[in-house]
Amino acid sequence: MNEIREIKIDLNRPSINYKIHIGKNILNHIIDFLPKKNFSKIMLLTHSYLYELYGKSIEALFKENNYEFNLKLIEEGENSKDWNICHNVLEDMIQNNLDRSSLLLTLGGGVIGDLGGFCASIYQRGIDFLQIPTTLLACVDSSVGGKTAINLTNNGKNLIGSFYQPCSVVIDINLLKTLNQNEWKNGLAEVIKYAFIREDNAEFYKFLEQNKNEILERNNDEIILKMIETSVQSKAKVVMQDEYEKTGQRMLLNLGHTFAHVLESGSSYQIAHGTAVSIGMNLAVKLSRILNLITEETANKIIKLILDFGLEMQIPKQYNFNAEALVKAFVYDKKAENKKIKFVLPSGELSHSAVFSDISEKLLKDLFSISL
Ligand code: GLY
Repeated sequence: MNEIREIKIDLNRPSINYKIHIGKNILNHIIDFLPKKNFSKIMLLTHSYLYELYGKSIEALFKENNYEFNLKLIEEGENSKDWNICHNVLEDMIQNNLDRSSLLLTLGGGVIGDLGGFCASIYQRGIDFLQIPTTLLACVDSSVGGKTAINLTNNGKNLIGSFYQPCSVVIDINLLKTLNQNEWKNGLAEVIKYAFIREDNAEFYKFLEQNKNEILERNNDEIILKMIETSVQSKAKVVMQDEYEKTGQRMLLNLGHTFAHVLESGSSYQIAHGTAVSIGMNLAVKLSRILNLITEETANKIIKLILDFGLEMQIPKQYNFNAEALVKAFVYDKKAENKKIKFVLPSGELSHSAVFSDISEKLLKDLFSISL
C-alpha cells in the first residue's frame, strides 16, 4: 500500500473518535478503513459521473468482500441540498432496508457530504457514514468535523443540519485529478483561510507562498499531500477543541464565510462557495482595516496570497446586489445571535483572527457601498 497519512479526531468519546486517511491510490484499500463492525448493508450516495469514474470500483470491492451493496444517485449541484432530495434519499434507504447496522458512503464534494451526512444523522436516529471527498474543498473542509446540512430556499444556506461525525474519512488525491481548475481554486480559498486564523499556521502561509506554482499547476503530489494534510490537521485541532462551535474556536474556520453565505444565497447559489469565501475574505480584510484591527502591511500580505492564487476578490456585478438587502440577509445567518451578526476578522498578527459581534449595520452598509 502507498504511504498513508493519518490524522486522528479524538473527541473524548471513544464511540465517535475517527481517523482521516490521506494518501495517493488508497481508495482501493477502503475496506481497511472501515470501523471494525459487521455492516449489514452499504449504500453509496453519489452522482452518476462519479459513479462511473470511481463508484463502480468501490462497488466491486464491497461486493468482492461479500457486502450487500446499494446505490443512490442524485443530481449534481447545490440545489440537491434540499428537503425534497433529502426525503427521497431517506425513502431509498428505507426501500433498501438499511438498518442501524448499515453504512452510508458519500462519494462527492460538499453537497454530497453535507446532504449524506444529514441523512445518515436522522435515519433511524443515526447510522454510520464514511466520507470520500472528491473535491479539494471537501477534502480540506466539509468532509472533516461533522457539520451536516441542507439549505432553506430563501437566504437559507445550511440552516437545517446537525453535528454528526463520520466514522472515517478517506482522502485519495488521485480523485482530485479530474477536477477542473475552477473547482481546484474553489478549494484553495478554504486552504488559504487556514493560514490566517491561528498562530500555529504562520508557517503554512510561507509554505503556500513558496509553493504556489506547484499548487496551482498540481504537478507535485508531495506538495499537494502536505497542503491537504496541514489543512486537515488544522481543522482537526479546532474541531477537537470546539466540536459544537460553542467557545469561538471553531467559528474561526468561518473567516470570510459570513459574507460568503449572503452572497451565495443572494445569487441563488450561482456563486460557488469557494469563490464566495475568497470575496468574503477580501471584505473581512477591508472591514479589519476600517476598524484598525490590522496594519496595512498585514492586509496587503493577505490580499497578495489571495491574488497569487488567482482567486476572486470582487462581488460580481451581474447579480445586482445592493448594500441594504445584503445587510438584511445577515440576520438569517447561523452566526447571528440576538440580531448581532458575528464576523471572523483578521486581527493583530498575520496568522491571527478573532470573532467580533458589535459591527454596526451602518458600517456594513458603508463597506458594501464601497465594494459593490
Ligand atoms: N466549515 C466550517 C466548520 O466545519 O466549522
